[in-house]
Amino acid sequence: MTKIISLLKRRGFVFQSSEIYGGFGSCYDFGPLGVEMKNNIKKEWWKEMTRYHDDIVGLDSAILMSPKVWHASGHLSAGFADELVECKKCHKRFRTDEINKNCPECRGELTKPKKFNLMMKTFIGPLENETTQTYLRAETCQGIYANFKNVLDSMRVKIPFGIAQIGKAFRNEINPKNFIYRTREFEQMEMQWFCNPKEADKFFDYWKEERMKWYLKLGIKKSNLRFKEAPKKELAHYARKAVDIEYCFPFGWHEIEGIHNRGDWDLSNHSKCSGKDLTYSDEKKFFPYVIETSAGADRLFFSFILDAFCEVEGGRTETTKSTKEKEIILKITKELAPIKVAVLPLVKNNDQLVKKTKEVFNLLKSHFTCQYDQAGSIGRRYRRQDEEGTVWCLTCDFQTLEDNTLTIRERDTMKQERKNISEIRNFLKEKLDV
Ligand code: GAP
Repeated sequence: MTKIISLLKRRGFVFQSSEIYGGFGSCYDFGPLGVEMKNNIKKEWWKEMTRYHDDIVGLDSAILMSPKVWHASGHLSAGFADELVECKKCHKRFRTDEINKNCPECRGELTKPKKFNLMMKTFIGPLENETTQTYLRAETCQGIYANFKNVLDSMRVKIPFGIAQIGKAFRNEINPKNFIYRTREFEQMEMQWFCNPKEADKFFDYWKEERMKWYLKLGIKKSNLRFKEAPKKELAHYARKAVDIEYCFPFGWHEIEGIHNRGDWDLSNHSKCSGKDLTYSDEKKFFPYVIETSAGADRLFFSFILDAFCEVEGGRTETTKSTKEKEIILKITKELAPIKVAVLPLVKNNDQLVKKTKEVFNLLKSHFTCQYDQAGSIGRRYRRQDEEGTVWCLTCDFQTLEDNTLTIRERDTMKQERKNISEIRNFLKEKLDV
């Protein structure tokens, strides 16, 4: 973990939020490469949901909603609360499911457990009182249920169909931990599948398999993934059935995505509380059941990084072998890699060569995420690009000036091929399937 967190900072993937002020409450910022990679994860998910499944439409609802939404959804009652205890000596608070008898920090005596609601409060407008209080959303899907009728009326959809949404969610977690694994502000990618109650079990199994296939397609090792069914007593307040997709983190197996059968909990409660008819009419009226797939973009980002992290003792290139350094390679799949192509002049002190290399860079930059890099020896630059997960390095050398060819080096195999500059764009387009 320490090695990976330091790499993510060093290479501009993840920074601690408000670091210049000593950091802030388990919040993190995604740096220049981190935001590229997280955007790629979201893009792949969006493509999978809304393009490959033509019966799913997208939505982007507001983070702030009427507090009535959260009363109806059950998030303001005991169901969406953690039990916590406080140490009488050091006053730190812990979730009861994470401790034994005494304070894990100072061994002090603990108070009796108390329920602690996880909704983040805020106020709308200049007055701060009960009438202006609302909440930052704790899950994106409530915006989907609140818009169910709007989508139904505007999009000519028929059940079974889905609504997908990506966006920020907030929870006042008592014990955020494990870097970006559990934070108070995070991003969810949720899809709600509305179906006939009779078909709910069938679609639950379908979505469970579809989601697992997506992780495997994007390169996560099969041995690092598993399903875990939630026992009845651990089900969330809205769920009839739930299975988690778990990833094998360095701190153990933990959930990265939940697949839930939410029954008609949400639509029927919103219908009751809003007074609006949220039933679906087929031969008769009924509340559709909801099968939900709910993944955290930040947790997925973390799993993709962990799975791609590879360290070679003694190095694999001549430069590292001679200094006996360890070499790090981020073997991220080409779809998710933040930078697809680095364009490098062999040396930086030859104007003609630099000019030619910049021409290649300009030729490619509107098609792929590219980086121009001339700082340091070519061996060092290859190493830096390997650590950033860049899939290909294109190097222009003196032969380029003579015959318009350059070398293309592939990150994982380090195989180098010479190609004509005129072929490069199509070669990369084909490889990246864009
Ligand atoms: N709408 C259902 C729902 O929100 P959840 O199991 O509470 O279900 C779904 O959350 C996913 O959201 C989790 O699998 C995880 O990836 C992500 N998630 C939840 N809480 C999180 C947190 N505090 N920090 C980061 N990601 C979180």
